Amino acid sequence: MNRIILSVEGLGKTFITKKKKITAFHDINLHAGEREIIGIMGPSGCGKSTLAKIIAGIETPTLGSLQLFGMDCSQGVSKEMKRRIGYIFQEGNLLPWRTVETNLRFPLEIFGLDKQEEYDQRVVEALKIVGLYDFRTCLPQELSGGMMHRVAIARALVLNPDLLVMDQPFGALDAITRKKLSSDFLRIFEQTQKTIIIITNSIDEALLFSNRIYIFSDAPGTIQEVVDVDVPYSLRHQEITTNERFTALRARMIEIIKKQYANNAVLEGEA
Ligand SMILES: Nc1ncnc2c1ncn2[C@@H]1O[C@H](COP(=O)(O)OP(=O)(O)O)[C@@H](O)[C@H]1O
Ligand SMILES: [Mg+2]
Repeated sequence: MNRIILSVEGLGKTFITKKKKITAFHDINLHAGEREIIGIMGPSGCGKSTLAKIIAGIETPTLGSLQLFGMDCSQGVSKEMKRRIGYIFQEGNLLPWRTVETNLRFPLEIFGLDKQEEYDQRVVEALKIVGLYDFRTCLPQELSGGMMHRVAIARALVLNPDLLVMDQPFGALDAITRKKLSSDFLRIFEQTQKTIIIITNSIDEALLFSNRIYIFSDAPGTIQEVVDVDVPYSLRHQEITTNERFTALRARMIEIIKKQYANNAVLEGEA
């Protein structure tokens, strides 16, 4: 079996604020092997972003175990581990006063690597992977929404992470740009061979990218269903709607999500 990069067992997170306790999620079990792409879907508020932040070491769990690269990280993720994890926020957040290239250099500065020459090459490579090398001196405001997302992804690739956590990376885009970007990204993912956790509110995106999709229940989230996307990646470049297996999997996912609607769940993006 291929090496386990991420393993989560019985994971729970409860926030304690002055006024109340909020359980974001509980009893989460999931794993990702080397080079696997794991999709996460679920209603708004079911704890998806909180899980992403825990994996990226920004929050700590209150229950259960988190293992990254075979090391126990249940009490928090060390700085050394964090270097191996790229995290793309829901909001994308590029620094508006920095050019494309200097946005990419930002994580290098944080980790004190900006003076090392090998990283200059990494910046160039990451820009080329996302097709933005010619735009390296532009400011974010000069780019389209889709290009900004590509910069955010390039920035996450600069440190050459072993694990990429993407929280709704295409969430704020219009449907056409989103579709175009998804097929670009499928190519990028195949090229970079990373282990990826991708949170999405789109069934088609989840099916296009993932080896396996975990569907969270309504808040407080727990895993309601696991869907194995047993369609080879070589077939995913074609129009997926024509693939019978995809069609069947999509129908099953719609069924699961419809049930959540019936229980008054609010789907992400519609909240
Ligand atoms: N820092 C925090 N303090 C208190 N509550 C929080 C915090 N972060 C998230 N929550 C709560 O945890 C729940 C899950 O939030 P989140 O992980 O953002 O859900 P999702 O990404 O699935 O929409 C929500 O009820 C949210 O209000
Ligand atoms: Mg979220």
